[in-house]
Amino acid sequence: MTSTPQDVTDQSTDSLAERARDHLWMPFTRHSAYDNGTSVPVIVRGEGAYIWDEQGRRYLDGLSGLFTVQLGHGRSEIGEAMARQASELAYFPIWSYAHPRAIELAERLAALAPGDLNRVFFTSGGGEAVESAWKLAKQYFKLTGRPTKHKVISRAVAYHGTPQGALSITGIPAAKEPFEPLVPSGIRVPNTNHYRAPEHLRDDEKAFGRWAADRIAEAIEFEGADTVAAVFLEPVQNSGGCFPPPPGYLERVREICDEHDVLLVADETITAFGRIGDTFAMSRFGVTPDIITCAKGMTSGYAPMGAMIVSDRLFEPFRSGTAMFLHGFTWSGHPVGAAAALATLDIFDREGTNEHVRQNEEIFKSTLARLSDLPIVGDVRGAGYFYGIELVQDKGTRETLNDEQAERVLRGYLSTALFDEGLYCRADDRGDPVIQLAPPLTIGPAEFDEMEQILRTTLTQAWSLL
Ligand SMILES: Cc1ncc(COP(=O)(O)O)c(C=O)c1O
Repeated sequence: MTSTPQDVTDQSTDSLAERARDHLWMPFTRHSAYDNGTSVPVIVRGEGAYIWDEQGRRYLDGLSGLFTVQLGHGRSEIGEAMARQASELAYFPIWSYAHPRAIELAERLAALAPGDLNRVFFTSGGGEAVESAWKLAKQYFKLTGRPTKHKVISRAVAYHGTPQGALSITGIPAAKEPFEPLVPSGIRVPNTNHYRAPEHLRDDEKAFGRWAADRIAEAIEFEGADTVAAVFLEPVQNSGGCFPPPPGYLERVREICDEHDVLLVADETITAFGRIGDTFAMSRFGVTPDIITCAKGMTSGYAPMGAMIVSDRLFEPFRSGTAMFLHGFTWSGHPVGAAAALATLDIFDREGTNEHVRQNEEIFKSTLARLSDLPIVGDVRGAGYFYGIELVQDKGTRETLNDEQAERVLRGYLSTALFDEGLYCRADDRGDPVIQLAPPLTIGPAEFDEMEQILRTTLTQAWSLL
């Protein structure tokens, strides 16, 4: 039925939460949750690491919005750079044209990216960057005489975005099922969840890393290297609850990709821009991929912007003749987004944000590790300012919550209880149930303690509800 103006509730009498419930379609949200009198939380303001709702209640932003607000909220300097840009040149495409901010940002990202990743293709977000990387891999191999190389390998439970190609690369069956059939040719291998490693590898991280990397070699050989274009992986996998790479893992994956002429794509949508204490996590881990996809923290969340950063080798076939990458977005390299990204990078340099993360990451880790004394906490893992806390019903056997417990305790209690206690973060069960933490990179020990205390109270209560 078409909506008429009379259908729309009078905005002057209804609260923002009611208007959200009635008209806003929230991504990845069970709207039924708001049918029983529960209000949609409406966040109206942010300052530093804190956000406020419309009732004036304050929360610690333990997820940097959605892994985006690296420098904290209320940075007027970034807003001012965006306003200046909007009044100078609000929009112009970079389809066969260029403008100063896109040029400056591409140059700056090329200088910051590892190895010879010197070519920057802008997108509006992470999913588009992943989609672009797969399309580039396919076209690159067609242009260079290996037209059958088109498949992609990625890891179980990994999230790589919602466009249909990126969703094919995603390793979360439940997120894909409603949209099947998706783009064919996505192949899955194990991730690096050491806590859930095969039993004989649980005491040897290095051997586990070798085992997990070799599953990639096995998949390439099984499919036939002449059909495989790329391996996509996050340096530290978010979905499932922060899986860092075991020692030697990324090096071995690089070796396997080289042996089989397969591109290594590091999806740094979350891990880039300081999250792991360097502009790119792959630099911190000392392994150079062929492509980096990134987004989120690039503008510290002040504007939507993503990028695919590509090695010189991959750009080479597009340098001459009639070849072109038949791909792009209206918003690619948006001047205002690029101005926000440049202002963000200026602050990173001036305030030494990456150094701050490196100096404080061990304190963050040990503060969260204190929660290991709780019976519901099976594992605390992560790197930099990026942590997952896995919840179990039996620490000894590592038995996870069953579906009923996950529904009742994780979704029914923890999701709202943490927020009610003043901590915005995520209780997630796309893999085994975890609490995810990725706070602004500006915080320190006082906020770590605040997080730990709120988590301790709510996780203790959650255990009593199991
Ligand atoms: C690793 C990874 N890739 C891709 C995406 C998709 O990014 P976007 O939502 O900007 O499309 C995300 C989003 O969380 C992500 O974490």
